[in-house]
Amino acid sequence: MDFEEVAKQLANPSGKYGIDVALGMNSMNEFISKTTYELLKIKDNESVLEIGFGNGKFIKDILNYGSRISFTGIDISNTMITEAKKIIVY
Ligand SMILES: C[S@@+](CC[C@H](N)C(=O)[O-])C[C@H]1O[C@@H](n2cnc3c(N)ncnc32)[C@H](O)[C@@H]1O
Repeated sequence: MDFEEVAKQLANPSGKYGIDVALGMNSMNEFISKTTYELLKIKDNESVLEIGFGNGKFIKDILNYGSRISFTGIDISNTMITEAKKIIVY
């Protein structure tokens, strides 16, 4: 896979390779994502909008900051939306 293809997958993960790319992003982004959530000081009843939730691995961490947290997310990748739906309980 060349540089352009990797860049394309990072911007919009798709297909089987996109699923693997998302798992890699989870590892790379875990520290910065969780540090960001800490800094936001999310409280009960608050609403969070995440643009680019990827495979959704960190959504449960956001929801665990309090009760009745409202999460809204968007992602440009249909593959990521499909993956996130597998781990999110509505
Ligand atoms: C670097 S990944 C981060 C994913 C996840 N937050 C994580 O830390 O594992 C960026 C995500 O943003 C999405 N994305 C990129 N451009 C976007 C856009 N314009 N609107 C919505 N989502 C976008 C990609 O599809 C990808 O899932």
